[in-house]
Amino acid sequence: MNFKDIFKRFVGHNVGIDLGTSTTLIYVKGQGIVLNEPTVVAIEVSSNKTIAVGEEAKKMLGRTPEAIRAIRPMKDGVIADFEVTEELLRYFIHQIQVKGLFTRPMVVVAVPSGITAVERRAVRDSVDHAGASDVWLVAEPVAAAIGVGLPIESPAGSMIVDIGGGTTEIAVIALSDIVCNKSVRTAGDEMDSVITEHLKKKYNLLVGEITSEMIKIKVGSAIALKTEQSMEVKGRDLISGLPKTIKVNSKEIREALKEPITTIVTAIRSALEFTPPELASDIIDYGITLNGGGALLRGISDLIAKETGLKVECAESPVECVVKGTGKILDQFSRYSKMLLHGA
Ligand SMILES: Nc1ncnc2c1ncn2[C@@H]1O[C@H](COP(=O)(O)OP(=O)(O)OP(=O)(O)O)[C@@H](O)[C@H]1O
Ligand SMILES: [Mg+2]
Repeated sequence: MNFKDIFKRFVGHNVGIDLGTSTTLIYVKGQGIVLNEPTVVAIEVSSNKTIAVGEEAKKMLGRTPEAIRAIRPMKDGVIADFEVTEELLRYFIHQIQVKGLFTRPMVVVAVPSGITAVERRAVRDSVDHAGASDVWLVAEPVAAAIGVGLPIESPAGSMIVDIGGGTTEIAVIALSDIVCNKSVRTAGDEMDSVITEHLKKKYNLLVGEITSEMIKIKVGSAIALKTEQSMEVKGRDLISGLPKTIKVNSKEIREALKEPITTIVTAIRSALEFTPPELASDIIDYGITLNGGGALLRGISDLIAKETGLKVECAESPVECVVKGTGKILDQFSRYSKMLLHGA
């Protein structure tokens, strides 16, 4: 570490970023979480100019005339559109700078544990080009575990499951490192797609991804509800081409969600099978911690508990755990620096 780095740490111009498939969160040292916005950018096709970012751009998803394109630049937890991601980061970093901050910040970014060296480089370059001075990467499950406050430095194993938009990440962490992990590209987005498919098949109804997500959040569940619910859904009839309203109930949505949820549960079981026996016994004692927006699906912790026979707890504010973890890393950099990803 050279003098410049040490100096930067004292000045404290530090930022933590959770660049998620669905949501981007930013933490600024000394200020806490300053930004929580959808990872969406709207672009004017003719000029290639960005016209909206975040919440405003998300409202445009599936509603844009031909002249505008609303893009989700992250797919399955990794950068699918490099330029647009950079644009999004530049916009967000600029936005927080306007709120009375510094010049070029030092940044810790959380990335999926399974990403390749090339994908890592893409994240690093994007953040770099967006205006960071130094960029550090940390595996998402490690950041989440730090954010939740799990005892990851102890020899006892902690299991954390992050159900995000693009990926579900499962990791067992002990002695400050990931002992075993599994990542599947099935999470919240896939739940939305199976709902879209269900409506197409059963009702010949075409809906956009925002509508499917809303159905999931409003009436979606992983286990039977005490009182089953229903809601009206508007879309376009595939046969007549006209707008149509139908009614869906929580039972059929649960049925549709079965496939992605089974994939997630199977991945958790398989991670448990690969966990060294001593750590497996810790997990019996301490259970599994769920985080990520997908952990908010009704009944998912109960279902995972039933399927694994283990205690399962959902973290408080599950969408914020990862960015909170990056914040703790910045706050106690020397304690956590050994947990950062090196290379690439
Ligand atoms: N109440 C809810 N019920 C079910 N799902 C929810 C709820 N609230 C949010 N979600 C889902 O959580 C997902 C987003 O979670 P999160 O913000 O943790 O993902 P991300 O970090 O952006 O994605 P990734 O980590 O995969 O890159 C979305 O699919 C969203 O629909
Ligand atoms: Mg995430």
